[in-house]
Amino acid sequence: MESSNTIISLVNVTKVFEDGATAVDSFNLDIKKGEFVTILGPSGCGKSTTLRMIAGFDIPTSGQILINGEEITNLPPNKRPVNTVFQRYALFPHLDVYDNVAFGLKIKKVPVKTTNKNGEEVVKMRHLSPKEIDQKVAKALAIVDMDEMEDRDVSTLSGGQQQRVAIARALVMDPEVLLLDEPLSALDHKLRLDMQVELKQMHKKLGITFIYVTHDQEEALSMSDKIVVMKRGAIQQVGTPEEIYNEPINAYVADFIGESNIYSGTMSSKLHVRFLGKTWECVDDFALNEKVDIMIRPEDVILGPEGKGVVDGVIDSKVFKGEDYSFIIKVGKAEVLCRDKKNREVGDKVSISVDPENLQIMHKEMMENQWTDCYINDKNQVVIGDDVFEADVTKLLKDGFIDDDGYLTSKAGKRYDLKDAGVIVECSFDDIIISDNLEEGITTGKIVSSVWIGDHYQDIIRTDDDEDFVVNTPYTWMENDVVSININKESLRLTLKKGLDNYAID
Ligand SMILES: Nc1ncnc2c1ncn2[C@@H]1O[C@H](COP(=O)(O)OP(=O)(O)O)[C@@H](O)[C@H]1O
Ligand SMILES: [Mg+2]
Repeated sequence: MESSNTIISLVNVTKVFEDGATAVDSFNLDIKKGEFVTILGPSGCGKSTTLRMIAGFDIPTSGQILINGEEITNLPPNKRPVNTVFQRYALFPHLDVYDNVAFGLKIKKVPVKTTNKNGEEVVKMRHLSPKEIDQKVAKALAIVDMDEMEDRDVSTLSGGQQQRVAIARALVMDPEVLLLDEPLSALDHKLRLDMQVELKQMHKKLGITFIYVTHDQEEALSMSDKIVVMKRGAIQQVGTPEEIYNEPINAYVADFIGESNIYSGTMSSKLHVRFLGKTWECVDDFALNEKVDIMIRPEDVILGPEGKGVVDGVIDSKVFKGEDYSFIIKVGKAEVLCRDKKNREVGDKVSISVDPENLQIMHKEMMENQWTDCYINDKNQVVIGDDVFEADVTKLLKDGFIDDDGYLTSKAGKRYDLKDAGVIVECSFDDIIISDNLEEGITTGKIVSSVWIGDHYQDIIRTDDDEDFVVNTPYTWMENDVVSININKESLRLTLKKGLDNYAID
């Protein structure tokens, strides 16, 4: 657990809101002094709620938060050695830069040692002098490179400059921990990249702990010492950027972080895994016959002459990326995404192999169905493989609804065009409806496995386009039976791969 260089510990922290929604679920994390930790996950997964509990703006329903070994779970925000920079900078528009930064200092009291009339040493609290405030403001503005701008009205500043002022306003309070909640998300792409570099340098120079929240995986990979990947209130994986990228613990993390190929497969013998219709050598020792997910990064796919690799395919598309090419190779109906320096043409036949070290084998999350490569079509339906299912996209936005033009719309009238948006789709094993009436479903599939577990069967149904649907059923089906598959729209849970803001249209 926590050691002497741990600054913050979250112990079983859970937050359930009044409406019964669990935003954060048994969160356990130790953060070291001086670390740059990023909490990463899609919109709505509980990142801000976690940060707000560290800051003291939300109180956990259960669990504890410790700073420097002392419990602060219920301490008010201004009593914690922590300051926050929010996504929307929330500066005072009628004050200039100086007064915005100085604001907190003017009400802050600091302890001073004096002697009382009996000659005893006592600690008294006093306000800072104007000169002390001047010095601190000047120092904070210098850190964010805004020292020439003290007298500017904040409303005349660019978005990037306003965010710098917001950072200065947090830093001026000398926090031990700086909390940053998507601080760059309102900035354009170029400025965001510049600010990432600057924040990183600032972190190094200040030596304090940064806890950074983002839904942007590239931002997380480039800035952090440690990344915490979250999904629906729970931690999926904690690790360095390299660990998270190279050794994702499951298909969710693999898919969320960077480009990847993910296949469903089976351990066929010791250190051999079967997927894409072939047997591949691997280095991870999993149980024989275990159903696993296999991840391959595009840059680890090795192309060669037809017949010389593990499996053959045909180049289906190519895009020049400057440093190399990005190819999509069709292997039967499956696709392999590949990055390679050597130019090839669409239609070329190639072989594919992968260094066994670069096959990342992952336990399948057999808790529920998860399809990581889906998208939303122009009718707000979700496409899994080649099959189109009704879905409720309004759940992607609190109080969201579909307007007359078919756009997801917020209560405040902001509209989102979700056409072609990439999504991860999940559905409980209990919510897949199968029938022997093949006309009844959205699609059909073949039972490829049926296992009795306690009081029901768990069957895997594979469709023509090679998607697996796992279903709990009380009925006996035979392998190779063909069944229809249906899912009610309420049963599908969608997670956007990119933040909803990417789809705003006005
Ligand atoms: N004050 C609140 N009352 C009720 N539900 C909330 C409140 N704040 C957040 N939530 C819900 O908690 C979940 C996590 O929200 P949040 O922490 O803001 O996610 P993130 O920052 O990852 O986008 C969401 O489902 C959100 O709707
Ligand atoms: Mg948030």
